[in-house]
Amino acid sequence: MKDGNHTMSQTKTILRALAGETLPTPPIWMMRQAGRYLPEYRATRAQAGDFLSLCYNPELAAEVTLQPIRRYGFDAAILFADILLLPQALGADLWFVTGEGPRLSTITQAADFDRLKPVDEIDAVLNPIYETVRILRQELPPETTLIGFAGAPWTVATYMIAGRGTPDQGPAHALKAENQALFEVLLARITAGTIEYLSKQIEAGAEVVKIFDSWAGSLKGEDFQKYAVAPAREITQALKARHPEIPVIGFPREAGDGYIGFAKATGVDCVALDNSVSAEWAAAHVQVDGCVQGNLASSHMVTGGQALVDEAKAIVQAFSGGPHIFNLGHGITPDADPDNVQRMIDAVRGQ
Ligand code: CP3
Repeated sequence: MKDGNHTMSQTKTILRALAGETLPTPPIWMMRQAGRYLPEYRATRAQAGDFLSLCYNPELAAEVTLQPIRRYGFDAAILFADILLLPQALGADLWFVTGEGPRLSTITQAADFDRLKPVDEIDAVLNPIYETVRILRQELPPETTLIGFAGAPWTVATYMIAGRGTPDQGPAHALKAENQALFEVLLARITAGTIEYLSKQIEAGAEVVKIFDSWAGSLKGEDFQKYAVAPAREITQALKARHPEIPVIGFPREAGDGYIGFAKATGVDCVALDNSVSAEWAAAHVQVDGCVQGNLASSHMVTGGQALVDEAKAIVQAFSGGPHIFNLGHGITPDADPDNVQRMIDAVRGQ
């Protein structure tokens, strides 16, 4: 498998960018590329019954992963799953309320934490995800890179503590302030689970892994170092020890100045950028340390037009002096027009 990956790294554009190569045209994929803006995704989800049943059905999860590859020929496929499957595997209740988002059992006291399962039991729930990865490695075109992923411990903890998404991550900040010991053992359990989960994805065939810290931006100062940088470093170091050839992408979303030095501090091979930072700024302050990914505002996938083309080309230009993977600054939204995705790809590839 090592030899296989090595050979592939010569040809797959995403692996070349992640290895530090500056390419004439950046490779491209899109966060949430398998999702509700695509009619074929909605049809397969209906066939599965609901979102979680889709995640745990390897054949159908592989099918929706492949749909945007067939339609657009992206350079990477991202495993279809969710960052909240790990909490579920650790014993949290998880369900999705249509039109509202995820709901989980909450963690507010030691007794809630004590009910969680040990890390060595997560595979009982997550085995179907590894099966999806194995199917994808068989079915993806040879030029397409398969990306596995997990949530970063802080972001996963914000959902496990509050039992839902929150605008300001208030409940997680409150637990951190009021019961730091409990907050930190929870983070440690998620970190250990994430290392295990990503290792198994890699063993099943994931060629790159990405760590999504969607709420990193609400960690300030010392907290950012302790709860965004340190866990990303711990996960990255553990993965590199087991699988030295597998690149890691870190996404400390809305980190602002925290993006500076993030790759050096954590060991990630690439820093994914949201669109609150300009590409010019990021080229000067982040890309100087290596590969970056991003960062077109996902709203362009709704509004389209010349602004979409101009902005996509400006981002390509700003990052043209170093390794770059083109992406959105956050996931594509359900109201996006699938034709705008093709316009973005054409603008990036210069057609
Ligand atoms: O990017 C991809 O195409 C791969 C699959 C993927 C999903 N979620 C599928 C999904 C990935 C990488 C994620 C990551 C994820 N999940 C994050 C981190 C990235 C980010 O968006 O900030 C987070 C915070 C979650 C948790 C989550 N899952 C929320 C808050 C929601 C509800 C909000 C929403 O967009 O509906 C989900 C649901 C979810 N995850 C959907 C998909 C396609 C929509 C569910 C549906 O089909 O009804």
